[in-house]
Amino acid sequence: MQSDYHIPVLYQETLDGLAIKPDGVYVDCTFGGGGHSKGILSQLDAGGKLFAFDQDIDAQHNIPADDRVVFVAQNFRHLQRMLRMHQVTEVDGILADLGVSSHQFDEGDRGFSTRFAGPLDMRMDRRQENTAAGIVRSYTEAQLHKLFEQYGEVTNSKTLARHLVQERKHQQFATIEQFKTMIGPVVKGNPHKYLAQVFQALRIGVNDEMGALKDMLQQVPAVLKKGGRVAIITFHSIEDRVVKNFFRQGSFDETPDNPLMSVTKEEVFTIITKKPVIASEEELKRNTRSRSAKLRIAEKI
Ligand SMILES: C[S@@+](CC[C@H](N)C(=O)[O-])C[C@H]1O[C@@H](n2cnc3c(N)ncnc32)[C@H](O)[C@@H]1O
Repeated sequence: MQSDYHIPVLYQETLDGLAIKPDGVYVDCTFGGGGHSKGILSQLDAGGKLFAFDQDIDAQHNIPADDRVVFVAQNFRHLQRMLRMHQVTEVDGILADLGVSSHQFDEGDRGFSTRFAGPLDMRMDRRQENTAAGIVRSYTEAQLHKLFEQYGEVTNSKTLARHLVQERKHQQFATIEQFKTMIGPVVKGNPHKYLAQVFQALRIGVNDEMGALKDMLQQVPAVLKKGGRVAIITFHSIEDRVVKNFFRQGSFDETPDNPLMSVTKEEVFTIITKKPVIASEEELKRNTRSRSAKLRIAEKI
């Protein structure tokens, strides 16, 4: 395993929360540098099994030589289908540590970071065609507006969308530098913060991160054994809200304020973390990436 690939966040909290059964079957939906997976494996005995998903082939360099590990080079939105392909119908625990790894972020040619002069790419899975530049090229003004507003909370998302639609007709934007130059005239407030928000929105869009998360969550009740645990680590409020609502109500809707409006549903989960678990002071000092991490855990009833 490459030690600088990624530092796992909320490591001990996640492992404790999964309440690992030594002979259980576990899924790490987001293998990355394999930090969390390594922790799960250390608590499994010879009878245990770990299915590790990652859609980025770079993560495959980190697969440990361990017979108990099955690596699945696919999007975790295919969770149930991929497990079935391995004759597995139910598992004891599922982990997803969402977003990108430090490795992806720090490799300039992947195009995730505003710091480098790479291509405007941002694909986690390079087998897929559409890149961030592809989104800028093909989305309508309304789609771009919605993307920057919803996934980046960009203050002037409407202006930005209109500007891009105008400028893309005659400006080059294949690289991050060119893209930054193109949006220069509409950058508002702190440029670093603004760019980070624009890039976050594009990344979520390119990788259909919200779609993949919802698809995966919807399969959890069917895939998880009774008493099995699911742990999800999110890095922004849009994802956290989706996870919170799903654990509470088995759906993605906001809880209606009017109690008369609420429909009684059969509960699927016991919520283990009433409030999301966040990083300790000590972890925050050690790993700045843990700043926005929120861990939620639920147990299937
Ligand atoms: C934050 S990192 C996980 C780090 C890991 N927990 C560790 O300890 O090293 C997220 C990883 O999940 C992968 N990933 C994100 N979304 C995915 C998805 N929908 N399907 C499969 N892999 C995904 C990314 O490629 C990345 O390698």
